[in-house]
Amino acid sequence: MKEQKVIVNSWNEWDPLKHVIVGRPEGTMVQAPEPAIERDFTKDGVPKGFFGPLPEEMLAMATEQMDNFVRLLEQRGIQVDRPTCIDFSQEVSTPDWKQKSMFGCMPPRDVLLTVGSEILEATMSYRSRWFEYLCYRPLLQRYFREDPHFRWQAAPKPRLTERSYKPDFWNDYKNWTEEQKEQAMRTGDWILTEEEPLFDAADIARAGRDLFVYHSAVTNKSGIDWLRRHFADHRLHVLHFKETVPIHIDATFVLLRPGLALTNRQRAPLEPKMIEFFKKNDWELVECAEPALPGYPPLSFCSRWLSMNTLMLDPKTICVDAQEVRQMEQFDQLGFEVIPVPFAALSAFGGGLHCATADVHREGICEDYFPIQVGGF
Ligand code: NVA
Repeated sequence: MKEQKVIVNSWNEWDPLKHVIVGRPEGTMVQAPEPAIERDFTKDGVPKGFFGPLPEEMLAMATEQMDNFVRLLEQRGIQVDRPTCIDFSQEVSTPDWKQKSMFGCMPPRDVLLTVGSEILEATMSYRSRWFEYLCYRPLLQRYFREDPHFRWQAAPKPRLTERSYKPDFWNDYKNWTEEQKEQAMRTGDWILTEEEPLFDAADIARAGRDLFVYHSAVTNKSGIDWLRRHFADHRLHVLHFKETVPIHIDATFVLLRPGLALTNRQRAPLEPKMIEFFKKNDWELVECAEPALPGYPPLSFCSRWLSMNTLMLDPKTICVDAQEVRQMEQFDQLGFEVIPVPFAALSAFGGGLHCATADVHREGICEDYFPIQVGGF
């Protein structure tokens, strides 16, 4: 009889990595405008409202760096699966809307959340990303066939009608006062309404029984509520940071290993209870090093803080973008084996080393890293 194996198992961000999905930069688009987002790369010489594929020379560099990263993982004995690209330049539609382009599939972390034997397809909140899950379906179907314990889940597909977005948000936002911005950071009240549950998988950081969710501009309260009910055996903690129009937790707050997390030097945590929670459980919060870049990389919607966007291969070994010399030094001093990975070319394609990967299998079980809970957090 054919042996039935456990393929999917991952409870946190640091246990020894055995199997991972690594995205593909091929075909990535600057998305067509949509209610959730308008890309504005006028500073990089691109007219506002432009949409289309990223330039070929950028793709060539990104593909080379990504392929080298895949080889590095494989040489360390980690199994790597890749998604199947579809034509991201095509117009897509549902009965509710039409969208002139898709995005890409470089960052699987945005779409897929692995918790134990489950992989959950996130709702996403951009129309251009509504169909992105299709790129991962060949892999998920295979895991489902081969692993009898794999729990394949998809959150309710959102409608993403006009009712999911605040009308005229981006125009209003231009005139927001500092107080209004501050208020939005504290409440997570950005473009999304509470019409339906919405979240991106990359807004969640995993630490065994505890899940930390960033209440960002792509994850609404209703999405957090859905996650809380779905992961009923876990404890869900909602985070807010000092970041204007926040998207995804993994360049802002990074769980490195039991007892150690990395915080962004500019984006302070806005909940005193969060700090109390980590301290009471003997976790150290270390401020990250200064990133290599002074500002946003060209044609990138990701910030210089991708310096923090790292991948743990085990609790002692960390992959870091090779340009982030100061960050690597800091990790070295914290006792990690640091693996420099040239990855800066992937920024415009959707992120860094954490974004570009989604866990399939890490050794280990669900543990309690936070035995002391703090009420109201
Ligand atoms: N919006 C985040 C991207 C996280 C991967 C940032 O640029 O900081």
